[in-house]
Amino acid sequence: MLSGVFLVGLAALITSSSAQSNSSQILVVDQKSFNVLKPVPPPSESNLTTVFVPPGVTLQQALAKPFHVYDDAFLDIIGTNPTLTLIASTNSNPLFHEAVVWYPPTDEIFFVQNAGATAAGTGLNKSNIIQKIALSQAAAVSSLRNASGQVDVVTVNATPPVVNSNGATQYRGQLLFTGEGQGNNTAPALYVVNPRPPYNTTVLVNNYFGRQWNSLNDVAVNPMNGDVYFTDTLYGYLQDFRPSPELPNQVYRFTPSTGAVSVVADGFDLPNGITFSPNGSYAYVTDTGAQYSFFGYNMTAPASIYQFTVLPDGTFANRKLFTYSSVGIPDGIHCDSNGNVYSGVGDGVHVWSPSGKLLGKIFLGTTSANFNFAGKGRMVICAETELYYATLAAEGAVVSSQLPPT
Ligand SMILES: *[C@@H]1O[C@H](CO)[C@@H](O)[C@H](O)[C@H]1NC(C)=O
Ligand SMILES: *[C@@H]1O[C@H](CO)[C@@H](O)[C@H](O)[C@H]1NC(C)=O
Ligand SMILES: *[C@@H]1O[C@H](CO)[C@@H](O)[C@H](O)[C@H]1NC(C)=O
Ligand SMILES: *[C@@H]1O[C@H](CO)[C@@H](O)[C@H](O)[C@H]1NC(C)=O
Ligand SMILES: *[C@@H]1O[C@H](CO)[C@@H](O)[C@H](O)[C@H]1NC(C)=O
Ligand SMILES: *[C@@H]1O[C@H](CO)[C@@H](O)[C@H](O)[C@H]1NC(C)=O
Ligand SMILES: *[C@@H]1O[C@H](CO)[C@@H](O)[C@H](O)[C@H]1NC(C)=O
Ligand SMILES: *[C@@H]1O[C@H](CO)[C@@H](O)[C@H](O)[C@H]1NC(C)=O
Repeated sequence: MLSGVFLVGLAALITSSSAQSNSSQILVVDQKSFNVLKPVPPPSESNLTTVFVPPGVTLQQALAKPFHVYDDAFLDIIGTNPTLTLIASTNSNPLFHEAVVWYPPTDEIFFVQNAGATAAGTGLNKSNIIQKIALSQAAAVSSLRNASGQVDVVTVNATPPVVNSNGATQYRGQLLFTGEGQGNNTAPALYVVNPRPPYNTTVLVNNYFGRQWNSLNDVAVNPMNGDVYFTDTLYGYLQDFRPSPELPNQVYRFTPSTGAVSVVADGFDLPNGITFSPNGSYAYVTDTGAQYSFFGYNMTAPASIYQFTVLPDGTFANRKLFTYSSVGIPDGIHCDSNGNVYSGVGDGVHVWSPSGKLLGKIFLGTTSANFNFAGKGRMVICAETELYYATLAAEGAVVSSQLPPT
């Protein structure tokens, strides 16, 4: 979704040490060490926007050892030698926002600039941009902590442009992006983008029976049925580039074979990220209702992830609260091949077991709106003005790129 949410500019504390990184990047946290705090700070000092570090650990130490283990199961996820590398940074333009998606044939990762952020100047006046990096360049610097400037960030001139892109996934050999729309006259839409030059795009669907969506946010393909599921929410309006909403904030389903558009879930404040478990039997939807962008925070509203059962007919059932983020809002969301759930939150990426137990964090000290796996052992993490490359043991859940082209 949006940015507005820069917590503290902690990344500045990362040293530019070029030391070989190994298990020295792991911090094991004993949760009993903070069951009782003296004192527990009041809400004016500790709240949704506050970065948490365990007692006895300084912020510098927490950043120097960014793989925070809250449960032993996280050790299997990160392996013995996880690494985190800053590979690009900007002063204020939030170039590294969301829609992180891997294109295996060229081994590149695509991502998009923040649409609607003041520092980007995007939204109503101009669309945001799509960019990409080559993973081979990121891998070449993974022994460094700060390799900013050493990885080429290439602008992707999608034609016609994806207007205010925000979410993305692999789709039948190409990429599928959500566009949040622009003003009254450019409707939110799903766009298929050719990941190779000339980056030609085709609009897949741009209306619900003639009505504009509010602003499409994120998208995922269910591996059971190949259908496209996507969230519609208010951030275009809350960032002043879309008109007043005229539909509830809901999750929709698009069936490519018939063109049918249906609704599968409502009852959210601000539905945002969406993903599926590896075999598609569960859907996860984040609700970022605590973050009203230009309108500020409401800390009693959801910063939560909901799990649904996906029935054989592709509908959603059994809405269940999966977790509530301890810092910031859970935005982008992805599963690994074992069904563990990862989401970008206010201090980096948090990881939960399939039963919603916090296993660990990739701690950035600042907000990550989205990230994604690039197959096994590799991850790219967006943090607005910073772009990170991580290596770990886990493998991303396979998205249904194996389906034939439409
Ligand atoms: C990383 O390195 C770049 C280029 O040398 C430098 O401008 C930047 O301040 C460094 N960032 C951090 C967080 O150390
Ligand atoms: C990590 O690196 C340090 C210094 O290079 C080395 O002494 C140590 O044995 C390494 N540990 C592992 C687990 O590789
Ligand atoms: C939340 O805590 C931060 C300090 O971490 C403080 O600056 C901010 O004012 C607090 N917000 C509220 C609404 O109390
Ligand atoms: C859009 O352009 C107008 C006119 O130049 C300017 O006043 C306004 O601040 C711009 N809005 C954004 C979000 O950049
Ligand atoms: C959309 O049109 C309405 C009615 O003309 C106008 O009030 C509103 O400002 C427009 N909103 C945007 C974002 O362009
Ligand atoms: C791009 O153009 C090629 C060649 O015409 C076509 O095969 C492909 O489907 C197009 N992709 C999109 C997303 O429009
Ligand atoms: C999908 O995986 C879950 C475990 O995550 C399992 O309980 C379920 O039986 C699987 N469903 C199918 C159709 O294989
Ligand atoms: C904050 O969110 C809660 C829960 O959604 C809601 O009941 C309350 O009205 C909201 N407060 C404001 C000021 O919007």
